[in-house]
Amino acid sequence: MNDTLLAPPLTLEKESELFFHTYSRLPIEISHGEGNYLFAKDGRKFLDMIAGIGVNALGYGNLRVLNAITEQAKKVIHTSNLFMLEPQFKLAEKLLALTGFSKVFFCNSGAEANEGAMKLARKWASQFSSEKKQLLSLTNGFHGRTYGAVTLTAKAKYHEGFEPLLPETGYISFNDADDLERKVSDKTAAVFVEYVQGEGGICGLSEAFLNRLNELRAKHNFLIVADEVQAGVGRTGKFFSYEHFAVLPDVICAAKPIGGGLPLGAIIGNARVAEAFTKGIHGTTFGGNPVACAAGLALIEELEEKNLLQHASELGAQFKAELLTLSRKHIQIRAVRQYGLMIGISTSRDASYYVPKMLEKGIIVNATNTNVIRLLPPLTLTESEMHDCVKALDEVFRAEWFEV
Ligand SMILES: Cc1ncc(COP(=O)(O)O)c(C=O)c1O
Repeated sequence: MNDTLLAPPLTLEKESELFFHTYSRLPIEISHGEGNYLFAKDGRKFLDMIAGIGVNALGYGNLRVLNAITEQAKKVIHTSNLFMLEPQFKLAEKLLALTGFSKVFFCNSGAEANEGAMKLARKWASQFSSEKKQLLSLTNGFHGRTYGAVTLTAKAKYHEGFEPLLPETGYISFNDADDLERKVSDKTAAVFVEYVQGEGGICGLSEAFLNRLNELRAKHNFLIVADEVQAGVGRTGKFFSYEHFAVLPDVICAAKPIGGGLPLGAIIGNARVAEAFTKGIHGTTFGGNPVACAAGLALIEELEEKNLLQHASELGAQFKAELLTLSRKHIQIRAVRQYGLMIGISTSRDASYYVPKMLEKGIIVNATNTNVIRLLPPLTLTESEMHDCVKALDEVFRAEWFEV
């Protein structure tokens, strides 16, 4: 047999040869996924506690999602938005019913949803004054990598070499209500927030901050945009994470799980912004792809039918209790933060240390914001899988003591 026909294992050297050097990939060649597990070509099996960075809310191979994809793909895969498509209409109706909001715009990713929401906010604000353009966001947040979204992301490491960024933008210190008051004015068009920050290490907004934000919105007439890309669509045990809080946003940006694993994003606006976008001023070729929308609908039906939001709340609470028990044994654990199945374990050292250690135990975790182990497992995670993860963490933290 011709040697070139034998598939060689993929290597990091080859990766470096082929691709721009943007990603630090794990040295695992994936063969397939099944349930809450990923399988490597070399036969290793991993419990996936990061689920495609919060995308695979139902794990791998969910039959309802697979059938929806297959059925829609047989009918038509892509048409563009020149036509009317049933899966898009149904998913939009569902999202509006779940939120009580007024309008949806479908796009392809989280960054694109935020980007569109920035345009929506400025367009909306332009009816009041040509000076009302300011877009603010919070420190420690993350909103994506396109120019607008990366401008909203207050991290120097994501900006270096890309300047100048978008003008008339600025940052408010996370949960600092006084800083918020100093920064907003009648020139503010919108304040972008993650009600629960993801990349930032699973940090929720404080009641005091949100109450002040609400008062200032009334005073200065700006929009609150909720970036629900990571925390939305069931992750925190509510459909959107803002439902844990008393202050409603005006615009919601969603993505990640919303396409059932296929690329899909959505901007969802309330009545205040319903007329801000007019024909031809915003658009995208792929946005609202019918296969992705059909998969998204199937995902939401599955979440509802299997009661997975309640499951995420209950299992998440139990998970936190077990991690707190671990924290009493291992002083490396500084704090545990949890909303549903969105969990951050603050550690005293760089959390990237724990990623290969957990991999050796057959569990995929992720490190974020330097010292946070981030867990975003499928919402289908079982109690026994949760225990497997806690046990592996316990062993890894214990083994750390014996390292020279
Ligand atoms: C809160 C938040 N917003 C936006 C994004 C960007 O989404 P995408 O990678 O789909 O562009 C992310 C990605 O992790 C995110 O966590």
